[in-house]
Amino acid sequence: MDDQPVLSIKNLKTCFYDSKNNAVVNAVDGLSLNAFKGKITAVVGRSGSGKSVMALSIFDLVDEPGKIEAGEVILNGRDIRKLSKRQLRKVCGKEMSMIFQDPTSALNPVLKVKNQLMEAILIHQKVKKKDAIKRCEDMIRRVGLKNTNKILNSYPFELSGGMCQRVMIAMAMLSNPSVLIADEPTTALDLTIQAEILEELLKLKDLGMAIILITHDLSVVAQTADDVYVVNKGKIIESGNVYDIFEKPQHRYTKELMESV
Ligand SMILES: Nc1ncnc2c1ncn2[C@@H]1O[C@H](COP(=O)(O)OP(=O)(O)O)[C@@H](O)[C@H]1O
Ligand SMILES: [Mg+2]
Repeated sequence: MDDQPVLSIKNLKTCFYDSKNNAVVNAVDGLSLNAFKGKITAVVGRSGSGKSVMALSIFDLVDEPGKIEAGEVILNGRDIRKLSKRQLRKVCGKEMSMIFQDPTSALNPVLKVKNQLMEAILIHQKVKKKDAIKRCEDMIRRVGLKNTNKILNSYPFELSGGMCQRVMIAMAMLSNPSVLIADEPTTALDLTIQAEILEELLKLKDLGMAIILITHDLSVVAQTADDVYVVNKGKIIESGNVYDIFEKPQHRYTKELMESV
């Protein structure tokens, strides 16, 4: 890989302290990875392997009793772990967005879709309100939602899971980040909708976004990924381009993951 990664995670460590049993769980245990412009980087591993904690750690969203112990998160050349909370909030959303497994919980339940999409634009970009509304409408169509006006004037609970996930993707596209982290974005959805959402991610990749796609599902990886990192117990045990991982898996854990597809 010749050019610089857009996002580089170095030796990230996040622990959970279990004070009752006086024990420590190393949920993310010295994990490093690189994500590149115009590539889908898949992070794959069984349930409980530390994928979601990794994603939350990148955004500094780990709550008590968890703690980020070490590591660097280099976004567009600078370590965002060194930023203040306030500076970090500014960077996230503008340069880096996240899509969650459960889109209904990630959207604000008391705001109409229109207001949430507008916010994604207006926080970071100087655009007239009228133009922002037009961009929201265009984006809603682009992610395959029909009946634009109705969707924009809905609250999240009035939409299906697949529709909410599309709204999340529209939001991510409107803020136009250089990195998108999607944590099991299709796990809660049925198969046809899953395929359509993956199509949307592939379009974002073609527009030059660096996408980190977190999944336990190797068929999702096969359909989308360029590079693959296999994670077990908070560590990367194997990485490479998608062909190598599928053709010549080195680790028993990876082989077993493949067999479970
Ligand atoms: N809030 C929490 N409190 C204690 N332990 C946690 C918490 N969240 C995650 N963990 C631990 O971190 C490990 C990794 O969890 P997670 O990142 O959610 O796995 P994955 O997303 O790969 O399924 C889990 O095995 C769990 O023990
Ligand atoms: Mg998870």
